[in-house]
Amino acid sequence: MSTIDYSEKIPNNVNLSEDRRLQRALEKWQPAFLGWWDQMGPESSSNHEVFLRTAIDVSAKGWAHFDMVKMPDYRWGIFLADKEKDRKIGFGNHMGQDVWQEVPGEYRSELRRLIVTQGDTEPASVEQQRYLGLSCPSNYDLRSLFQVNVEEGRHLWAMVYLLHAYFGRDGREEAEEMLLRHSGDVDKPRILEAFNVPTEDWLSFFMFTFFQDRDGKFQLTSLAESGFDPLSRSCRFMLTEEAHHMFVGESGVGRVVERSAQLSAEHDTLEVGRHGGIPLAMIQKWINFHFSICLDLFGQEKSTNAANFYSMGLKGRYNENKIEDDHLLNNDGFLVPDLQNGKVIMSEISALTAINERLRNDYRDDCQKGVDRWNRIIEKANVDFKLTLPHIAFNRNIGTFQDNDFDLEGNLISAEEFAANKDTWMPNSKDREFVKSLMQRVVEPGKMAGWIAPPSRGIQGKDIEYEYVILQ
Ligand SMILES: [Fe+2]
Ligand SMILES: [Fe+2]
Repeated sequence: MSTIDYSEKIPNNVNLSEDRRLQRALEKWQPAFLGWWDQMGPESSSNHEVFLRTAIDVSAKGWAHFDMVKMPDYRWGIFLADKEKDRKIGFGNHMGQDVWQEVPGEYRSELRRLIVTQGDTEPASVEQQRYLGLSCPSNYDLRSLFQVNVEEGRHLWAMVYLLHAYFGRDGREEAEEMLLRHSGDVDKPRILEAFNVPTEDWLSFFMFTFFQDRDGKFQLTSLAESGFDPLSRSCRFMLTEEAHHMFVGESGVGRVVERSAQLSAEHDTLEVGRHGGIPLAMIQKWINFHFSICLDLFGQEKSTNAANFYSMGLKGRYNENKIEDDHLLNNDGFLVPDLQNGKVIMSEISALTAINERLRNDYRDDCQKGVDRWNRIIEKANVDFKLTLPHIAFNRNIGTFQDNDFDLEGNLISAEEFAANKDTWMPNSKDREFVKSLMQRVVEPGKMAGWIAPPSRGIQGKDIEYEYVILQ
């Protein structure tokens, strides 16, 4: 079951050839996907030979095969993690019952919504990152970008498969819509706001793969708990790919931090801009921006939708099976931030309606670990600077804090004060211009742009000097 059939037009491990109707429907969607990739995917990249990994097996060990591939020839397909024998629903009103192999009719629209929302982010990120290949800091990094891009394309396949296989006609329509909405489009934008801003420079790309892709990790992990087994199995395999995206993000930002700290120590100043580096204070601004817009992706602190998804058994909590409680949450409380007399305080609400907040907390803790590791790089260079995550109230557009303004420490401030400080807290147009001015394309194998340190090792045992992308 776990071996992937590559003799098929659409590689898969779901016995697609046994369901002719579904196979035909997906084979009809395939050229639309390739057309989308051609138009909205990585700019001027279709003839490059790229050292890409492709899934050959969905088991935990050795699922990947590496080869030089032209991206349009990448074998996008449908890979589900293996069925867990006798899997039971682990939370909510159906806890203990067998997982569903078909969509439960009463939850159909909620499930579809969850799948569409997740699916929409996948092609969105490819669109956002479309021009980055033209300004890559190294051949190695160019390959990382392309690997992330083809895998986000595959994640779209994962969700489109579920829509086609389990939702009939409206599923097929939703699958078409996935290719018609575009990131930043005025008429047909992507569903979530953080996926409508272009990723215009590589610092933003590394931040994106750290912060946005990490949101992906937390969403997928919660969906992997789903009582709808095909969704769970799709997400479990997607998570193995997602881990690489976050590696690209964390190591990418880490290398920028390393170079900046190095230049700071060498020139005895934090103002390393004139020495070709990105000042640590500027990196902090990028963190403030990306972290705050990603917190919005988790939704309202108090959410009946999230409570329903949970009670219905559709979307669980992060590491649901490791949490020790009744997994029903009808009688439990959870602390969520609230605003009282101008102060951010914690107040208890029903744990069931606080599902979003709990996931946001888990996400924040995970982000903090990455920031701590970046700080160790700065410490090692003997530079006196510390990166931090801004307060959760800062720059929020969804939830409790959306109608007020806060500083980086979470103090309530006036709209005027926020406007006056915004450019010192988050990237302003001059910062963006400066960072963009550093983005000169470096593609010669082994060479690195001056603003980033080399990676500690190459890919799949290859040297850093290896030609990971042969440009044509
Ligand atoms: Fe993804
Ligand atoms: Fe990702």
